[in-house]
Amino acid sequence: MKLAILGGSFNPPHIGHLALASAVIPLGYERVIFVPAFESPFKQGAVGANPRDRLDMLAASIPTDTRLTVDDSEIRREGVSYTADTLNDIARRYYPDGKLGLIIGEDLAQDLPKWHKYEEIRQKAEIIIARRFIPSLDENIKLEKYEENNGTKDKISYSSATKFNVDKFQYPHRILENAVIPISSAMIREKIAKNEPWKYLVPQGARVIIEERGLYFQFPPPGSQLPSSLIYRMEDATRFLVSPSRFLHSRNVALLAADLCIRFGLDSRRGYLAGIVHDICKSFSTEELTDIIKRNGGKISKMGKKKPALLHAPAGALFIREKFDIQDEDILESVRVHTIGAKHMGQLAKIVFIADKIEVTRPSVRPVIREMCQHVPLDMSLDELFSLILNETVDFMRSRNMDISQETLRLLDAMQRKTDSN
Ligand SMILES: [Fe+2]
Ligand SMILES: [Fe+2]
Repeated sequence: MKLAILGGSFNPPHIGHLALASAVIPLGYERVIFVPAFESPFKQGAVGANPRDRLDMLAASIPTDTRLTVDDSEIRREGVSYTADTLNDIARRYYPDGKLGLIIGEDLAQDLPKWHKYEEIRQKAEIIIARRFIPSLDENIKLEKYEENNGTKDKISYSSATKFNVDKFQYPHRILENAVIPISSAMIREKIAKNEPWKYLVPQGARVIIEERGLYFQFPPPGSQLPSSLIYRMEDATRFLVSPSRFLHSRNVALLAADLCIRFGLDSRRGYLAGIVHDICKSFSTEELTDIIKRNGGKISKMGKKKPALLHAPAGALFIREKFDIQDEDILESVRVHTIGAKHMGQLAKIVFIADKIEVTRPSVRPVIREMCQHVPLDMSLDELFSLILNETVDFMRSRNMDISQETLRLLDAMQRKTDSN
């Protein structure tokens, strides 16, 4: 197999790295190996992420893409790695067809003949010179300042970097006419530290790791018990299991639930997750729903027997606990009772109930109610908002002669008494 190598710090990996690696494939290479440096000879004391983080971010950035892979040889060797050693190590283990491709940015190419064991590199590798984003002078000053402030400084001065001059490079090489994406890892680190938009500059897998481990943040976001990877996984699972329109409903419920959590001082990530998964079993057949409930030791309620569609709520809670090991009782309750409510509901369950009834694609919501959920008055408590939505829901069902469960009526009664006594 024809292989090419792309080394670097990958601190963090970004979409420019992936675009560059895939641009090499049409040259006849079948696979590109990312080789993260333990410590690049050009960048000492890389900030923000340790070698393990960088390795994990790279691996998480390329799922299912068999054209790309990661090798940890430089990280395992530790210390300063030299390209000649890496080429030998890779060749010894991968048995490439022909010479290994060595992808090098145009800003480094000019100095290539000065590299350690350059003659050996030249013999063993086909040098591929790629276009690279070279930030403007202003940008450089900012980046250097940032790195100085963080106790590190790139050996390469970007401001002195120039475009590759092919006439001055008298050694065998190929030029890659790759599209240049104007981003750099240093720029992304700076954006994260300054809380500027950065999330779509890195592949999703790397983004999850940055969020989960709080990498590069000057002030890490407030802690949540929920790992980002779990939320992504549940969002994927829900999209896979429900119809596109149901998924949009779920996402809208998640957004409104997250907003309401912020308004009422709860963890918005839990609100988002509960909203995303609340209808996860909505497309399951009655047999499947019954089976989930029974095999988890549950019972089918009278209302469930009469209206089997309602079983998607209790079955959904059991399903996410059984299949995804979600143990958060508040989230489980939010899913379990989102259709008809329950006498003693927690705050998160109330929020998800509200969001499910009011989100933007729900028809027949009175404008005044919709606006109230978007701009909850400062003096309004969660119980007051919940009572209001519950009343609206029951009024709506009565106007359509729909069956109202005993559970909902008891809840309505309890909320009425609670509000009266306040
Ligand atoms: Fe539902
Ligand atoms: Fe729903």
